[in-house]
Amino acid sequence: MEEKNHHHHSNKHGEHSNGGTCKAKDKDSDCTTTTTTNDTNDTNDLTIDPEKKTQDFRNYNNSRRQETVNNFYKELRTKMTFECTMEKREEHLQFNKCVMTPWDMLHYLDQVVDDSDPDTSLTQIQHAIQTGEAARALYPGPEYDWFHVTGLIHDLGKILAVNDKSKGLTGEPQWCVVGDTFPVGCQFNETNIFYEYFENNPDTKNKTYNTFYGVYEPKCGLNNVFMSWGHDEYMYQIAKAQSKLPEEALYMLRYHSFYPWHNKHGYMHLCSDRDLEQLKWVKTFQKCDLYSKSHECPTLEDVADYYKPLLDKYFPNPIRW
Ligand SMILES: [Fe+2]
Ligand SMILES: [Fe+2]
Repeated sequence: MEEKNHHHHSNKHGEHSNGGTCKAKDKDSDCTTTTTTNDTNDTNDLTIDPEKKTQDFRNYNNSRRQETVNNFYKELRTKMTFECTMEKREEHLQFNKCVMTPWDMLHYLDQVVDDSDPDTSLTQIQHAIQTGEAARALYPGPEYDWFHVTGLIHDLGKILAVNDKSKGLTGEPQWCVVGDTFPVGCQFNETNIFYEYFENNPDTKNKTYNTFYGVYEPKCGLNNVFMSWGHDEYMYQIAKAQSKLPEEALYMLRYHSFYPWHNKHGYMHLCSDRDLEQLKWVKTFQKCDLYSKSHECPTLEDVADYYKPLLDKYFPNPIRW
């Protein structure tokens, strides 16, 4: 069914017109998804549903956003190569786009819509608040204030999808920003959702990258593994260089979309003991990130008194994005 709908731009071998590369000039060419506009069908018919059950989240088979999500993953799985990841790291880890406080960036984030998410059409700002508040409900103590802040800011890296020259933002296609992440440089693992779409990824045929360990050593530690480029790695690198957040928070930021690891326990052959210790925090974070999506939502101004001082505590200076 998916093939039928899309064979007009994807030939029998599944090759997209710009193959597996992701040079800057490809950005606008073959992207069927948009980043700054809502899908009107969605917003009208999918409202916040407090009755939604745990098992109803991350439904990749028959959610109301099925086609959008399916197309999104097809593109991500096909195009995100080792080389692409290196190019994006080079491009985005210079932190020379703009200078803005995390608080201001939270407001700014509101224009992003995440095409990879089957669960919700909540705005990003609502998702940020809900995740922070879920973390706060789970671990209310002031000694966990870093956890609450992490919930609030974890998706700020999605601003990479915004096209705004005045902020140094070039509007990356969705597949370079969102979606589940996975290691590049080694064999793609079946614990990835939409695993079948990897068959069109050029790295699948690359002998350097398509073995079990690929370019990595057994149990080398995830800090030595290159993750597919996206908002997680971007925000992690920012927080590592510019915040006082603890190691647990950095793990959450970096691996919160690494579902094949924290949800399906794949890729354990690359993990160090340290990674396994931190896994429980990443799993805890994931509950806040995911299951918070259907509860009622305060505004940023409602929660400002609590979060603004904490943002100042953990990000003492405006962020260089
Ligand atoms: Fe995220
Ligand atoms: Fe999130």
